[in-house]
Amino acid sequence: MPAQDHEQTILLGVTGCIAAYKACELVRLYKKAGKRVKVVMTPMGTEFVTPATFRTLSEEPVALKAVDDPNAAIQHIVLAQEADVFVIAPATANTINKLAHGVGDNLLTTTALATGAPLLIAPAMNVHMWRDETTQASLVALRERGAIIIEPESGYLACGDTGEGRLASVEEIFAATIVELDRARSLEGKRILVTAGPTREFLDPVRFISSPSSGITGYAIAEEAARRGAEVVLISGPVELPDPFGCTVIRVQTAQQMLAAAERHFKDLDAAIFTAAVSDFRPEATAQHKVKKKAASPEVRLVQNPDILATLAARVGADFDTAATPVAGSNPASSTAPAPGADFGTHTPFIVGFAAETQDVIEQARQKLIDKHADLIVANDVSSPTLGFASTHNRWHFVTAERVETSAVLSKKALASLLLDKL
Ligand code: CTP
Repeated sequence: MPAQDHEQTILLGVTGCIAAYKACELVRLYKKAGKRVKVVMTPMGTEFVTPATFRTLSEEPVALKAVDDPNAAIQHIVLAQEADVFVIAPATANTINKLAHGVGDNLLTTTALATGAPLLIAPAMNVHMWRDETTQASLVALRERGAIIIEPESGYLACGDTGEGRLASVEEIFAATIVELDRARSLEGKRILVTAGPTREFLDPVRFISSPSSGITGYAIAEEAARRGAEVVLISGPVELPDPFGCTVIRVQTAQQMLAAAERHFKDLDAAIFTAAVSDFRPEATAQHKVKKKAASPEVRLVQNPDILATLAARVGADFDTAATPVAGSNPASSTAPAPGADFGTHTPFIVGFAAETQDVIEQARQKLIDKHADLIVANDVSSPTLGFASTHNRWHFVTAERVETSAVLSKKALASLLLDKL
């Protein structure tokens, strides 16, 4: 989390490359724009520009190596938390390859591992190092994780070769940084509700119906929204994930509990994002005690669970749209129907639903958009064994009444960011 509310902190990483001198100009531009700049250098970086230069320009101490003092703050963690954005310019092939593989062997790389701030990487290197397969694979991996690569320019290089590898212009790196800083505040003052994970519908105290949903998507969205300044309420079914930073987390088990929790917080929202894999059915009755094996084979009758998204979206429709129609194909719990004139606060929340499909993905999503009165359905094809439920990566189709946009295959964290850009 940023150290201060008003002044944004840019963490600038400088690695060992002849273009390091251009980072001095970058610091000057950031300072002129009123930003706080902290510089972290790799040992090789200091061979090209002295820390004293950056200390003078930034008016801040320069971070060089972990301080060997048990009473001192843990430097990479402090830097990681202070940063609103982490810009590495110039970034050598060596540092890029380390970042892609999670190597933390100096203060700059350990800070990159520890920070949740957006990462901007401006590579600078020889053309052959740039074209090297390992370097390119590392760039793909970093992009998939949400890093922004500021492409190098092509031209005459310091080593005498000509080709790609020259650090992007300082103005371009500056502009990209400002875009990221603005994005970091893009949800300030907004209230967002997210549902996540599976639900458990108990047959008896030890057995339940559920789904393999990991909750990763909903948690990534909640955390990214909080990082952008939103007030986030995350209502989560049982998952193996820690509470995301900066969110109010309400843990529930069943669909009915999830609906009740969502109803309690469904007020003054700017957006409601329903990622939970809610069990559509629950046993009509839950045995009070464990059903014993020796008992006659039990017969389980299932009844429909309320559709949380459809129930709440229909209420928004009823409250704000006098011509609202009943929700087709959904099963809003009648016991939770809104009181006439129910109070949803002063906003009409933007409603986002998810659809994990195995066939006719876009068509199914379009139908859900209509049936559930959502503003956007994020559809994904879970028929592929490498994408979907348990995987870390996915490809999303953003389906609205007007258009369909399809993302690249990205990490769920990067997809969460993309979704919030669309809000
Ligand atoms: N959803 C919900 N409550 C339910 C079922 C679904 O809030 N009881 C939400 C999900 O969180 C998701 C969207 O509705 O955002 C679509 O869920 P999905 O399971 O794909 O759709 P269903 O309506 O259950 O339709 P089906 O299982 O027949 O595809």
